[in-house]
Amino acid sequence: MSIIIEHLYHTYDEGLPTQQIALQDINCIFDDHCFTALIGQTGSGKSTLIQHLNGLLIPTSGKIDINSYLIDISLIYKEKKGQQVVDYKAMKKKRKAKLKDIKSLRKKVGIVFQFPEYQLFEDTVIKDVSYGPKNFGLSETEVLENSKKALDLVGIDSSYYERTPFELSGGEKRRVAIAGIIAMKPDILVLDEPTVGLDASGEEKLLTLIQKIHADGTSIILATHDMDVVLKYCERAIVLDRGKIVKESSPLELFQDREFLKHSSLEPPKVFSFALKLKDAGLNINLSNVKDVSSLAQEIKRARG
Ligand SMILES: Nc1ncnc2c1ncn2[C@@H]1O[C@H](COP(=O)(O)OP(=O)(O)OP(=O)(O)O)[C@@H](O)[C@H]1O
Ligand SMILES: [Mg+2]
Repeated sequence: MSIIIEHLYHTYDEGLPTQQIALQDINCIFDDHCFTALIGQTGSGKSTLIQHLNGLLIPTSGKIDINSYLIDISLIYKEKKGQQVVDYKAMKKKRKAKLKDIKSLRKKVGIVFQFPEYQLFEDTVIKDVSYGPKNFGLSETEVLENSKKALDLVGIDSSYYERTPFELSGGEKRRVAIAGIIAMKPDILVLDEPTVGLDASGEEKLLTLIQKIHADGTSIILATHDMDVVLKYCERAIVLDRGKIVKESSPLELFQDREFLKHSSLEPPKVFSFALKLKDAGLNINLSNVKDVSSLAQEIKRARG
């Protein structure tokens, strides 16, 4: 299932003095089965874009086609004092109508927000994870089966089922919250900085889990500030800057584009910069094999024969 975005604009508080243009003329495709990174400095529009992917935010103008589910908010104009002006009222009406049939979309595109643990609300772990699948009309047995499988996948065993989610550790809460999204079996899993606040081992476990979900056929869109994660796990990178896409490429191409990096705020991963230096110094390093420290070590060994 792919997502095609055309000329998407998003303005917060449109028409008010506090108006804030967050996204401008976004055109991109999130390919089926792809693991895509969404990167860019704070305030560049990553979370705003993500919230469009399951209709939580509706574009101010532009089109999003998610597996033929089309959110199309083209500008509507009206006559005012002999002039053509944008008819915001008519557009708001159109947006509201579109939101009504958005439920099926939410089953296909699951979003894990930053600090998803804040969204836990049921009094037991199993009830919390079951909430989503129940809402989408699955039978009682299917709901329980999906929920247990999802909890197993995130490493939460049955001794947790009847515990209250609020008394778990931060990492456990996050895994329960993620299980709640996975249990809906989305075709596309979107994660907004999912590892923020986790320790190194929690981060590694979560990313390995996301990689496994991807290997099982789910498309992944991951917003992150962590370039090591982009290098190691992602197949494509989309870079946002002040609400615009400024680069779309493979991580390999992005981290080799010295001219682009010089003018952006992005720092390539240290391991990649080191590999580049070795290559510049004459060692025959195959950069596409460099994903992390251990793969670089292997590559050095190979290059030195
Ligand atoms: N609810 C809101 N109301 C008004 N403006 C907002 C709102 N949410 C975000 N913005 C503004 O929109 C722009 C994009 O914000 P967004 O949260 O999408 O950035 P981001 O790339 O996710 O940043 P971060 O890396 O800090 O999470 C920023 O200028 C921000 O101030
Ligand atoms: Mg954000």
